[in-house]
Amino acid sequence: MKNLSIIVAVGKNLEIGKDNQLLWHISEDLKYFKKNTSGKTIVMGHNTWKSLPFKPLPNRKNIVLSRQKDLQIEGITIVHSIEDLKKLLITNEETFIMGGATIYKYFINIADKMYITRVNQNFDADTFFPEIDGKIWKKNSQSEWFTDEKTNLEYCFEIYTRN
Ligand SMILES: NC(=O)c1ccc[n+]([C@@H]2O[C@H](COP(=O)([O-])OP(=O)(O)OC[C@H]3O[C@@H](n4cnc5c(N)ncnc54)[C@H](OP(=O)(O)O)[C@@H]3O)[C@@H](O)[C@H]2O)c1
Repeated sequence: MKNLSIIVAVGKNLEIGKDNQLLWHISEDLKYFKKNTSGKTIVMGHNTWKSLPFKPLPNRKNIVLSRQKDLQIEGITIVHSIEDLKKLLITNEETFIMGGATIYKYFINIADKMYITRVNQNFDADTFFPEIDGKIWKKNSQSEWFTDEKTNLEYCFEIYTRN
């Protein structure tokens, strides 16, 4: 698997979700997600798939990881193991790993790049992104801090590459 990128939005404690939902709604972050992933392949775990309000995500090849062998969902590709995923992802084009926690935990060890939106607040959560090891990951860019008009949440966009 080449050219793998993680895309995630995290709170101050690396929290990413609760009760199989996101912790915030920041429309500029959703636009950022859309801009980066449109036309590309996105890979997600079955719980994240179930959490999506609208699916499949349009203009993207949606791949869902599930161990349920009989699971079939129209219009998307289901894979049952990382080994099967490897056989599918033979392209050099950027592929986006879009969570959730179980998927990030595996792919943080092999991804080449991470698009991380930082939300400058603590949230009550039950799912977390793994620790980002500064010896392995180098921050290449960070945007200015923005404030979401609706929620007043501060957020910024960071990009990391593997050292
Ligand atoms: N903040 C963000 O950017 C962000 C992004 C994405 C998700 N989230 C949040 O994260 C939470 C969901 O995360 P999660 O960790 O509970 O679930 P998840 O990673 O989305 O999905 C877990 C499921 O994926 C399947 N799976 C995992 N590893 C697999 C493997 N190696 N082979 C085959 N199938 C595999 C299994 O599905 P089966 O049970 O069907 O076997 C497993 O139960 C939600 O709250 C969601 O809103 C946040």
